[in-house]
Amino acid sequence: MRNDSDVRKPAILFLCLGNICRSPLAEGAARAAFAAAGIEAALDSAGTGDWHVGHPPDRRAVAEARRRGVDISDLRARQLRASDFADFDLILAADDTNLRDARTLRPANARAELKLMLDLVPGRTGQSVADPYYGDDGGFAATWDDVAAVAAALVASRG
Ligand code: 4NP
Repeated sequence: MRNDSDVRKPAILFLCLGNICRSPLAEGAARAAFAAAGIEAALDSAGTGDWHVGHPPDRRAVAEARRRGVDISDLRARQLRASDFADFDLILAADDTNLRDARTLRPANARAELKLMLDLVPGRTGQSVADPYYGDDGGFAATWDDVAAVAAALVASRG
């Protein structure tokens, strides 16, 4: 007979460059989607860079998430670390550069599978989630649409 301890929660880390725009939006969208589906998951986000460590998400990201009904203001940026490859089942990078940088940190015995976020979305394999940091507020709406599609695909596959 199965019990709760037989079914380990999926552990998923969302990765971008600064961990203040794309990956906190992805974490927020995934938290909302998993909660709505009643599925437990361990979700987190990180950046390959260290410039924004300890900072909350960009105010434009917080505002866009709020428009979509999700509060990400409590998230704080952190940098990707080698132990993340043991602690997570899946690390999802926003773009090719994040993917390449993560590969250089990935230990040989890594548990985590590493792929692009949009690899999970039918018809979007190999595509990047565009970096909205240097653009206008409209870029953040597009980012949300992308990461919400990723979150929906994760829930559809049960993580
Ligand atoms: P993110 O966006 O990787 O989606 O968090 C960026 C945030 C900060 C910088 C670049 C991208 N930056 O150069 O500081």
